Amino acid sequence: MTVLLIGATGKSGTPLAQRFLKANIPVILTTRSGKVPAPFKGVRFDWLDASTYEIPFAADPSIDRIYLIAPPVLDMFPSMKAFIDFAIQKGVKRFVLMSAAMIDAGDPIMGKAHEYLRSREVEYCALRPTWFFDNILIHYSDTIRTQDEIVNAAGSGRIGWISTEDIADVAFKALTDQVIEHTNPIMVGPELFTYAQIAKVLSDALGRKITHRNVTADEFKNIMVRRGMPEDYAAFMSNADVLIAEGGEERAFKQADFVGTRTLRDFIESHKDAEEWKSV
Ligand SMILES: NC(=O)c1ccc[n+]([C@@H]2O[C@H](COP(=O)([O-])OP(=O)(O)OC[C@H]3O[C@@H](n4cnc5c(N)ncnc54)[C@H](OP(=O)(O)O)[C@@H]3O)[C@@H](O)[C@H]2O)c1
Repeated sequence: MTVLLIGATGKSGTPLAQRFLKANIPVILTTRSGKVPAPFKGVRFDWLDASTYEIPFAADPSIDRIYLIAPPVLDMFPSMKAFIDFAIQKGVKRFVLMSAAMIDAGDPIMGKAHEYLRSREVEYCALRPTWFFDNILIHYSDTIRTQDEIVNAAGSGRIGWISTEDIADVAFKALTDQVIEHTNPIMVGPELFTYAQIAKVLSDALGRKITHRNVTADEFKNIMVRRGMPEDYAAFMSNADVLIAEGGEERAFKQADFVGTRTLRDFIESHKDAEEWKSV
């Protein structure tokens, strides 16, 4: 058995890879460059370049389970279907897909791959986490640093923020258990927070006042486009904020199948000296 982790150097892939290292289970990590941190074995893989699909299997023909982080494009299904078909032909028996709390089988983006996995003769799990703690560190760092603000269109919607360490625990089990316990788990953290409440926790930890500024979905889309996100994907993501504002994530919190134990306060406290949040 060898496990292939696609998107292995990202927010959820990084703690997941560590679990395989610790358990001494053969694992191969992919990135578009093929470069991965030591001591892992890495190969090149690009969803948008089908000529790379063969590379992991040439490196290790015993790959039989795969963690899937989707490509960051709205029209992701054609390349995901093509690779899933290719991998099944190569003997892969199990897929663990990173989807999202608000995305069910058959819905747009990862929902299509979820539905496709369900239709095939394979073992699968579609992880459906809510929003990650790391977003506050990564996606909101520029305005926290330069304007002491978190800017988005999520209003006063509450989110049951989750740690990628908790996600990695569930993903590891789904990839290694004899039988997958839950094929469609909605996953949240222990507490609900609005962005304004997060700004308050950040203010206390960083020792300066951070606020949340709400903008329209269209304004937020334009901010993400200016940061380099494709326009259609940015429109989808700003709509996700509208769903948060309308209480969608709070409803998901109440239906959760898995509740993580790591807290957002501890995450912020343990990153309070991060360069990403330093005032400029
Ligand atoms: N952030 C959240 O709050 C949240 C919540 C729920 C669900 N999700 C879902 O989680 C997924 C993202 O997972 P993540 O945050 O763990 O990953 P991530 O931090 O966004 O990392 C992306 C990974 O994919 C690789 N990658 C980028 N473009 C690629 C391509 N064209 N082909 C192959 N690999 C590529 C990157 O490596 P290289 O750049 O080196 O190639 C990196 O390893 C998304 O589908 C998102 O919708 C996110």
